[in-house]
Amino acid sequence: MRNVFTVTIPSTGRHFTAAPGETVLEAAQRAGIALPYSCRSGVCGSCKATLLEGRCTYPRNPPLALSGTPPAQHAILLCQAVPASDLRIEAREVTSVEDIARRQLDVVVSRKWTLAPDVVGVALRPAPGQARLAWLPGQYLDVLLDEGRRRPFSIANHPQADGAVELHVRHVAGGGFTSWVAEVLKEGDRLRIEAPLGTFVPREDSERPMIFMAGGTGFAPVKAIVEHFIALGTRRPMHVYWGARSMADLYLRGLAEGWTRQAHELSFQPVLSDPEQAAIGGLRMGLVHEAVLADHPDLSGFDVYMSGPPAMIDAGRKLFVEAGLPEDRLYYDSFDYAPDVLAQIIGARAGIASAL
Ligand SMILES: Cc1cc2nc3c(=O)[nH]c(=O)nc-3n(C[C@H](O)[C@H](O)[C@H](O)COP(=O)(O)OP(=O)(O)OC[C@H]3O[C@@H](n4cnc5c(N)ncnc54)[C@H](O)[C@@H]3O)c2cc1C
Ligand code: FES
Repeated sequence: MRNVFTVTIPSTGRHFTAAPGETVLEAAQRAGIALPYSCRSGVCGSCKATLLEGRCTYPRNPPLALSGTPPAQHAILLCQAVPASDLRIEAREVTSVEDIARRQLDVVVSRKWTLAPDVVGVALRPAPGQARLAWLPGQYLDVLLDEGRRRPFSIANHPQADGAVELHVRHVAGGGFTSWVAEVLKEGDRLRIEAPLGTFVPREDSERPMIFMAGGTGFAPVKAIVEHFIALGTRRPMHVYWGARSMADLYLRGLAEGWTRQAHELSFQPVLSDPEQAAIGGLRMGLVHEAVLADHPDLSGFDVYMSGPPAMIDAGRKLFVEAGLPEDRLYYDSFDYAPDVLAQIIGARAGIASAL
């Protein structure tokens, strides 16, 4: 029986082979073809593509992001789908990220500082003897832990001459790695990372105005992309929204306000979900996606970038498309838990369900 299959993207004529058990995304990456992805866990939907012909299976995580998608759409999740025959798929390629090969390297913590009560800034530099890192604004890195576990974090700055990388790490309640970062990690410590990863990058082949929506530390990649467009001197209008619970969570509000003086067509809207905090600060109150929709009820003429907690991303995916935004102009990174954690959570739920 055959177990090596060919995947073809007819719109570009590109094709690649998938080894046994390999997902379509992994096989494409091995072939140097960049298809969109974010969480790699099957939850965020950014790797959604259309299956034109063939069969695939989901032996790892179930394709949760497809729930509610009508079967007639023939949608597949590239990060989870393993070919069971030759496939023909329709998928968006993100060719701009193809030029930078990802690699693993040792880095040293050159600085650690407090950004907000539960957010630390961490600056990393390549360890002595390691070549500097290249990436596109908005991409992320994986911190490599033992037993093959990984923890993804967005790079908050655009590339520097010395390869220094800035992260904004939120301490997740009950989270093993982020607790360790908050409490134990110190300057001079070494980490092993893999980078650059992800396809949440500036799209420069457009003249449309842009909306950026960040939730919490989702500000990190948005910061990198906005700073990139400001440095380019773009004339495209940019509307930046940053949602958080409290004033302290808007940990770089002064920086974002400074952007409005640097780029003449840039507006910045901080939005707080805690009514008391919003009243104290005289800031807009509510959920950040609601603020976007109140200001821009028709999104058909925009490109939208969003990054942050899964609930915010889910709301944006549904409501922004309903407000006229074409799905292929919605770019996002969803801050889901790492694939191993999701697999454990899903496994535990399945165990409970079968025991009932
Ligand atoms: C592309 C991407 C970019 C990201 N960028 C950033 C960023 O810039 N900044 C940032 O702060 N975060 C970011 N994140 C999120 C970040 O990766 C997670 O917060 C991090 O992986 C949590 O790691 P941890 O080891 O601390 O928590 P984990 O140990 O992974 O636990 C996470 C949560 O799951 C719960 N949990 C663990 N195991 C189980 C189980 N078996 N059953 C039930 N619950 C369980 C824990 O209690 C905890 O609440 C990003 C995520 C992605 C996908
Ligand atoms: S669902 Fe595939 S990358 Fe998130």
